[in-house]
Amino acid sequence: MTARIAVLGRIPASGLEVLHQAGDVWSWDQDEHIPDDVRNEKLATADAAVTLLTNKVDDAFLDAAPNLRIVANVAVGFNNVDVAACARRGVLVSNTPGVLADATADLAMTLILMATRRMAEGERLIRSGEPWAWGMFMMLGTSIQGRQLGIIGMGGIGEALAKRARAFGMNVVYHNRRPVAPEVAPHLDAQRFELDELLATSDVVSVNCPYNADTHHLIDAAALQRMKSSAFLVNTARGPIVDESALVDGLRAGEIAGAALDVFEHEPQVHPGLLELDNAVLVPHLGSATVETRGAMAELAARNVVEVLAGRDPLTPVGVRHLR
Ligand code: DGY
Repeated sequence: MTARIAVLGRIPASGLEVLHQAGDVWSWDQDEHIPDDVRNEKLATADAAVTLLTNKVDDAFLDAAPNLRIVANVAVGFNNVDVAACARRGVLVSNTPGVLADATADLAMTLILMATRRMAEGERLIRSGEPWAWGMFMMLGTSIQGRQLGIIGMGGIGEALAKRARAFGMNVVYHNRRPVAPEVAPHLDAQRFELDELLATSDVVSVNCPYNADTHHLIDAAALQRMKSSAFLVNTARGPIVDESALVDGLRAGEIAGAALDVFEHEPQVHPGLLELDNAVLVPHLGSATVETRGAMAELAARNVVEVLAGRDPLTPVGVRHLR
């Protein structure tokens, strides 16, 4: 019987083309979030679901999908998927690591420069129509050359960011729960620090770890107080890793010099306090947002579906392996 594939959000055409090789594809092709009743109707007969980070895969989702064999998430982060619930039902889960590392690292480096060089503030000044003139002391930022970048989470994105930061003359240190892979470590040229030491000594702290119960509010009031008052915080991972209220308080109190965020605790809502702060750079979850990267993500997710429907393991599985 031909397999049925439900694509629950808009994905690039190249991903859909791959999926067409594997079965009958139905795809939600609107920008608005798919309504639950439409989703459930499609899940009722689906063998595979392709999800975006805005699709919550929980027991209600899985209850609606009795034949499901794989949830292929088009994102490296999979905190929207209850992986344990999937495993209990024998549903495999995959994500899209690797293909978005460069784009996300580019964005993290951009945010480091935007925060330290006050780029968003400068742009706002020009657009405000306020008169301005070049001045020796106008809008001075901070140089990053010779400064320390502390990367929390040394996976593919952290590694790609380290490479970029070194090209800008930064010294890189990192914190990772586990030592990095032996094939990566020699090229990394970065020392592993305990989290407290990284926070206390870094000039820029970049959050690049996955979001889970252990990393919820990893950057809380105490962590911010540990940072240098001249330091900047950058988050391109997941919003709830940072306690946004504590960040607003910390920025207001001058506990750190600035922050640059691509992700938000209650996305797409942004803490109103952040909107008032000139030393907060705010962009709308654009880490992987290039045409090339989004295409590659969709294709990798689709290839995972192809593998599983052919009775093989996904190329990039996450979570607990489960016998099908
Ligand atoms: C991811 O893949 O997890 C990113 O946040 C999507 O841009």
